[in-house]
Amino acid sequence: MLNHITTKDLHPAIGTEVFGHSIARHLNPEHIHTVKQAWLSHPVLLFRDQDISDAEHIQFAQHFGRMERHPSISHRASNHPEIYRVSNVDEAGHILPQESNEWLYINLSWRWHTDSSFRHIPSKGSILHGIEVTSPGGETLFANMCLAYEALDEKLKSRIAGLTVTHSHDHILSLSDELYSRQHRGEYTPLPPVIHPLVRMHPETGKYSLFLSPHTMTGIVQLPGQQGMALLDELIAHATQDRFVYCHQWRQHDVVMWDNRCTMHAVTPFDNQTQRRIMHRTTIVGDEAPIAAC
Ligand code: SIN
Repeated sequence: MLNHITTKDLHPAIGTEVFGHSIARHLNPEHIHTVKQAWLSHPVLLFRDQDISDAEHIQFAQHFGRMERHPSISHRASNHPEIYRVSNVDEAGHILPQESNEWLYINLSWRWHTDSSFRHIPSKGSILHGIEVTSPGGETLFANMCLAYEALDEKLKSRIAGLTVTHSHDHILSLSDELYSRQHRGEYTPLPPVIHPLVRMHPETGKYSLFLSPHTMTGIVQLPGQQGMALLDELIAHATQDRFVYCHQWRQHDVVMWDNRCTMHAVTPFDNQTQRRIMHRTTIVGDEAPIAAC
């Protein structure tokens, strides 16, 4: 029980189910405060059986900050551009062809990442509603990046202290030779590369975490290319061990809310030509650029 809401942890490291809370109904300040408090101590919250409209989803999300618009214009919902359609189905209900820009992009975006790591001020948190869900596959993996940092040995902690990493949205596109070779790869808001600390401090809890987003990271500023990428690969392998990761198997109308300032996530593969996966995400604008841990 957490300040008037009942919760149950889903994994020792991360993932907590909240019971008896309708995100469309419980919108008064007291309830929102309770959810905020729960979220700070439990960075991935699951609310089951939330049959909400996009408007209700957005209304709930706006209690936590302003809404981002995703840089991929074709993945924004046409009625609600604040909704990022994380889906292998287009708005007319057709499964995206394997070779379409839209499928290639969304599939790349499901590698391990932290939302909006390509922005100078990355997102604070995201809220995802499962509208059509898949099984097997299409699970979302969430890693607790504070625990991953804490578990590093002291030698590695001092080796990475003060390092910074370049992140670029275009790097996502370059992960597919097929997509990158095309003259037209889709419509994206242009975003210049940005530099973020490798170890960040959470602005509200003060906890340190690894700030990794493998699909946007192009290198460590202070190290030669290969050496930097090898170090990042070592940290990614460390942070994605089962002991730090909760695997969420979706049920229809699950809503999951996560804190991007101390987690990273990925989606597991599924048969994208026979199974339909429609997920709507709101992405909450961050309050400040990541704070380097000192
Ligand atoms: C995301 O990558 O933000 C969405 C995760 C998912 O579709 O499960």
